[in-house]
Amino acid sequence: MRKICIVTFGCQMNKLDSELAAEALQDAGHVVVQDEASADTVIFNTCSVRDHAEQRALSRLVQLRTRRESDSGFRLGLMGCFAEREGEALIERLPYLDFAVGTRQFMRLPEMLEQAERGRSGRFGEADDPGPGLDAAHARSRHHGIHGFVSVMRGCGNRCAYCIVPSVRGGEVSRPVADVVREVASLVDAGAREVTLLGQNIDAYGKGSVWNLARLLARIEEKIPESAGLRRIRFVTSHPRDIDRELVEAVATLPRACGHFHMPAQSGSDKMLKAMRRGYSRAEYDDKLAMIHEAAPTATIASDFIVGFPGETEEDFRATLDLVLAARFQNSYIFKYSPRPGTLAEREMTDDVPKAEKRRRNLALLEAQNAVNRERSESLVGTRRTILVEGESSRDPSRWTGRTAENLICVFPAPEDGAIKAGDLLDLAICSATPLTLFGRPV
Ligand code: 5AD
Ligand code: SF4
Repeated sequence: MRKICIVTFGCQMNKLDSELAAEALQDAGHVVVQDEASADTVIFNTCSVRDHAEQRALSRLVQLRTRRESDSGFRLGLMGCFAEREGEALIERLPYLDFAVGTRQFMRLPEMLEQAERGRSGRFGEADDPGPGLDAAHARSRHHGIHGFVSVMRGCGNRCAYCIVPSVRGGEVSRPVADVVREVASLVDAGAREVTLLGQNIDAYGKGSVWNLARLLARIEEKIPESAGLRRIRFVTSHPRDIDRELVEAVATLPRACGHFHMPAQSGSDKMLKAMRRGYSRAEYDDKLAMIHEAAPTATIASDFIVGFPGETEEDFRATLDLVLAARFQNSYIFKYSPRPGTLAEREMTDDVPKAEKRRRNLALLEAQNAVNRERSESLVGTRRTILVEGESSRDPSRWTGRTAENLICVFPAPEDGAIKAGDLLDLAICSATPLTLFGRPV
């Protein structure tokens, strides 16, 4: 029996995989701990989306090297996208690593840990070796507090020029509706009050069948009554090309589907969108924005942007800035382009925007979004919002936090003992605001 700490980098899908891996390790008799210092085994769940993400994981790994080499009982492992990308080569490069598994093999961690104990260190879970499948991972009932995450599809069927995801997570595979509904029900049974459906390109759910995301949401609404405890259903991430009116109307009409879309634009310039192989133009993106505003008027929209993609000129960048200011996103996540091994952009395009220029564009875009955030937040002062209570603020125990369906973070004074609990819906009168947070009082 080992005391294992899993350290997670990257997206929500990775966080979910860490939870699933933790369950599998617990089932095998191990203890999963939160703090690295008390663990005798540390597993890094890694991300490859940008070079920076890989470097962060690597530097943490290197920090543990001395411990691994001086303490014969200590084990070090790797899982996730970086492990998948590097494969066997990683084991050769980092001899102090005991084991590594790719993105679809983490259910084999107990077995690999056992092999490491028997001195067969350094095995890499082969991508085409099924092992205990992911279905086994999803079949269990997990308890997470009020938030539950369900991956409704894995992998990605697009080929955006910059993106490592299709190569580290494979092609798009949707899970059967009945499995998803069963998993949502079991999470709700275990205490989840809000469930987020995850997919790298979730609007493509069910492609090629009679199912789509709108119908999946409706099925969850129908099969899992509010009395069971499910208060909210979210989903991420939406691709601008695949998002359609049926989905937006479903979100607007289904009572528990949250009016929030994360629909990354990546750029506001047609030339860049084409070079990125995004599959839509700026005008088409604007049409989708207009369609969402019309069919789901209270919904909020968040976006991702990449600055400094190969060939991005000042004019292209201005087009992105223009989009951020015109669309008034609820939030924008802004990234500096980072060439990823094996992607089209890395193979065929020159990373020609200087670092300092990427940084300048990044800051300028952040500043623009920040101004939008400030205005949006201030316009909500004096209104009432319903939040799902999440509990005590991690920064300040005299305050509690929660979120609106539109994904706005709200803070309110800590309630008296037992008066309000995590998972409750609560109405707040908003009295003040900062760009990213609303402050309210229960009404
Ligand atoms: N460089 C910079 N940002 C990237 N993203 C994906 N690939 C790269 C890359 N090579 C960003 C995109 C995506 C988000 C998850 O990360 O904006 O939506
Ligand atoms: Fe998630 Fe992509 Fe990072 Fe993998 S590479 S952890 S899929 S963001």
